[in-house]
Amino acid sequence: MFTSVLWASSGHAASQSALEPYGPFSDVIAMLFWGMLVVSVLILAGVMALLAIGLIQRKRAQEAEPMGYTQSRNLVLMAGIVVPIIILLVFTLSSAAVNKKIVPMETEDALTIEVVGHRWWWEVIYQGDTPSEQVKTANEIHIPVGEPVRLVLKSNDVIHSFWVPNLNGKTDLIPGRINTSWIQADKPGVFRGQCGEFCGMQHAKMAFTVESHPPEEFRNWLAQQRQPAAEPQTEVQQRGQQVFLTSACMTCHAIRGTGALVGIAPDLTHLASRNMLAAGTLPNNKANLMGWIAAPQTHKPGNLMPEVRLTPQELHDLAEYLMSLE
Ligand code: CUA
Repeated sequence: MFTSVLWASSGHAASQSALEPYGPFSDVIAMLFWGMLVVSVLILAGVMALLAIGLIQRKRAQEAEPMGYTQSRNLVLMAGIVVPIIILLVFTLSSAAVNKKIVPMETEDALTIEVVGHRWWWEVIYQGDTPSEQVKTANEIHIPVGEPVRLVLKSNDVIHSFWVPNLNGKTDLIPGRINTSWIQADKPGVFRGQCGEFCGMQHAKMAFTVESHPPEEFRNWLAQQRQPAAEPQTEVQQRGQQVFLTSACMTCHAIRGTGALVGIAPDLTHLASRNMLAAGTLPNNKANLMGWIAAPQTHKPGNLMPEVRLTPQELHDLAEYLMSLE
C-alpha cells in the first residue's frame, strides 16, 4: 500500500509550478514565459531610462531649440509604431509555435486516459481491450515516464479546467464537449494538479495528482487496478462489506467484484491504493476515512456525499473493509 504522505512531504514531489517543467510540453511553455519576461524587462528598462534622461535634461531642453518636425515624427514612428509591431509580432509567432509544440506529432497509439470533471472530484478512466478491463479511479492519475499521454476531457456538470502546471497548460472540461490535452513527464515523480476554473463552493478542494512511473511499474499498477476488489479476509472486513452493501453507500459508489455497480461517485474498487481522500482533501488512512464517512459535509461542505447514519461499530467495520481494498 502507498503510505499516506502529503505531496509536499513526499520525496520526489515537484512543487506545483509552471516554472518547474518536468516534460516537453511544460518546457516550451516555461521557455516562452522566460523569453517574454526578458523582452518585457528590457522594454521597461528602456522606457524608464528615457524618462530619466528626459527629466534630467528638462531644464536644458527648455532653453534649447524645440525638437524639429522630422525628428519628432521619426521618434513617434519608430518608438511608437515600428518597434511595438516587431515585438508583438515576435511574441505572437513564438506563442503560436509553442501552441503547436504542446501537441505531439505522432499520436495514433498513445495511451489515452479519460478524465471527467465532477463537482468536486476527478473521475479517471483507463479503457481496456474489453469492457471488463476498464479501470475507473479517482483524483490520482498514473502515467508511464517518457511517453506522451492523451487526455480526453469531459465534464459532468459545470466547466472545470484540468491543470498540472509541471506538465502542461490548462485545458477546460466543458459539459457536452470533448476536449483533448496531452501530458508527458520525463522523470518519475508526483505532480499536483488543480481545477483551474471556478466551479462552485469546493473549487479549491478539487485537486488531483499525476504520478509518473517507469513503464514496467506503470503496467504493473494498471494490471493491479484491473483486478476486481479484494475479498474480505477477516470477520470485521466481512461485516464491513455487509455495511457497504446494505447501506446508502452502494447507491452511488461501485466496488468491482461486489454487487455495487453504480458509478456516479468515485469508484472504490482499489480505494486503499490511493494517497488522498476527497480530491486531495485528506490523507488516506483509516482515521480520516472514518471521519470523512461520518461527516463529509464538515470536511467539504456542499459536496454530494450525504451523511449516512451508522453506529460506531458499523463505521469502524466499514472503514476496516474499505482500507483492505488495495
Ligand atoms: Cu472544478 Cu473548479
